[in-house]
Amino acid sequence: MRLLMIGPPGAGKGTQAVRIAEQFKLVHISSGDLLRAHVKGETATGKQVQQYLASGDLVPDGIVMDILRKPVVEANNQGGYVLDGFPRTVEQAEIAYSVAQTLGVEVQVVVHLEVPRDELVRRLVERGAASGRSDDNLDVINHRLDVYDEKTLPMLNYYAAREKLINVNGARSVDEVTWSITVQLQRLAKALAGD
Ligand code: AP5
Repeated sequence: MRLLMIGPPGAGKGTQAVRIAEQFKLVHISSGDLLRAHVKGETATGKQVQQYLASGDLVPDGIVMDILRKPVVEANNQGGYVLDGFPRTVEQAEIAYSVAQTLGVEVQVVVHLEVPRDELVRRLVERGAASGRSDDNLDVINHRLDVYDEKTLPMLNYYAAREKLINVNGARSVDEVTWSITVQLQRLAKALAGD
């Protein structure tokens, strides 16, 4: 199965992606984790992207595509993936589609986590206080949420039009959200197996 986890900052993409990957024996790939690893490792890419992450702006498409290409192809060879944090714009979705089509690794389902803004801010402020993640401070959190509304929300229409979108209420307990996603994915997995 090839699956995307989409949602605003703090929606629980990473939390749920780990659980779904384990349950369905998929590889979890997070664009944000890969970018942060480059920053931590002080690589050339890390130096290029550091400021985008710190300010909550999107990293340029070319850089994101470069760091994702290899892990996505490898994960596909291992049975599939849950990709969390990519794509984030209609442009990224279109580029991903054309690359994936050439490689025969097109996305089959997009899970969209919906959570009200005040709950997102609450979760991120709380995480920032505990973990010190540098983009989890109120100003940057609000900017990340604005960037999501402006750049990523319109992308959902792209997937809805292709009948790949599953909307999930993410404003429940972690277990309830996992259960809700699992039920829908099991149904889909059966349908895919019957194709
Ligand atoms: P990224 O790492 O993708 O961060 P994000 O989208 O801001 O998302 P978060 O990791 O903050 O939240 P999440 O939805 O994964 O929730 P989580 O499970 O962690 O991106 C960071 C930056 O990298 C971007 O700003 C951009 O600069 C760059 N970038 C990344 N991808 C890019 C791309 N494709 N193109 C361009 N730039 C890109 O949970 C959050 C908190 O809530 C945790 O503390 C968790 O414990 C808690 N929580 C989770 N679920 C629940 C629940 N159900 N109830 C209560 N608390 C919960």
